[in-house]
Amino acid sequence: MTHEPFEKNSIILLIGILIMVSIGGLVQIAPLFWVQSTIEQVKGMRPYTPLEQAGRDIYIREGCYTCHSQMVRTLRDEVERYGHYSLAAESMYDHPFQWGSKRTGPDLARVGGKYSDQWQREHLINPRSVVPESVMPSYPWLAKTPLDTTKAANHLGTLRVTGVPYTDDMIAKAKADIEAQVNPDSKGVKELLARYPKAKVGNFDDNAETVTELDAVIAYLQMLGTLVDFASFDASGPNLR
Ligand code: HEC
Repeated sequence: MTHEPFEKNSIILLIGILIMVSIGGLVQIAPLFWVQSTIEQVKGMRPYTPLEQAGRDIYIREGCYTCHSQMVRTLRDEVERYGHYSLAAESMYDHPFQWGSKRTGPDLARVGGKYSDQWQREHLINPRSVVPESVMPSYPWLAKTPLDTTKAANHLGTLRVTGVPYTDDMIAKAKADIEAQVNPDSKGVKELLARYPKAKVGNFDDNAETVTELDAVIAYLQMLGTLVDFASFDASGPNLR
């Protein structure tokens, strides 16, 4: 019996375990150093517009993630409720990611386009005005607080350091792109859409005078889950970039 010494001597057993675990670890970990990318790139994913990115920061500031996850799991009930399960690529530009581990409210990974801007506006200002039994807090100050755009360019620059592919042009035009995204009639919209395909343009907060924090949060929510076209997406490969 070749395994007898392992069964009779705990030190030999321990050394045996260490050797096996090391081989297992090498097989799992070593290839990651050679593959080009651990995240498969998927068509449609783009860095967030400066307005969406600002909305994302407010989402984090206000602690929305303490009640909402942004990851549809591969389980059948989740896919039937929320739509296609989340892809790793969909959070590749998230620093930090918002997958979350707790849902007091529903998952938001695919909430973009589910409601009108008006619904989102009323819901954020007072959730009970549209969902009477809601336990979500009200965020009325978002509509009254002008968005601080002075650091938008710096912020994109910092994200670039972490690997988000913002170009010099995107960084230089950050402020202009914010103004364009909330002014559907402005000249900047064409440029914005060239830089950020599929960006949703609109007067999100119904206040044409000022760009508010509410504009940013709604722009962010309306983008969530809309970048990858799942009607043509095939997880087996042809649609990967
Ligand atoms: C205390 C927990 C809590 C916090 C914090 C919270 N929410 Fe909610 N949220 C809920 C609950 C519960 C619902 C479901 C009832 C409703 O629609 O109001 C909900 C619903 C939503 C919905 C509708 C989702 C759907 O598919 O119907 C959106 C969008 C949303 N929340 C956005 C936000 C944003 C943005 C923030 C931060 C500014 C936030 N929530 C903070 C609990 C929370």
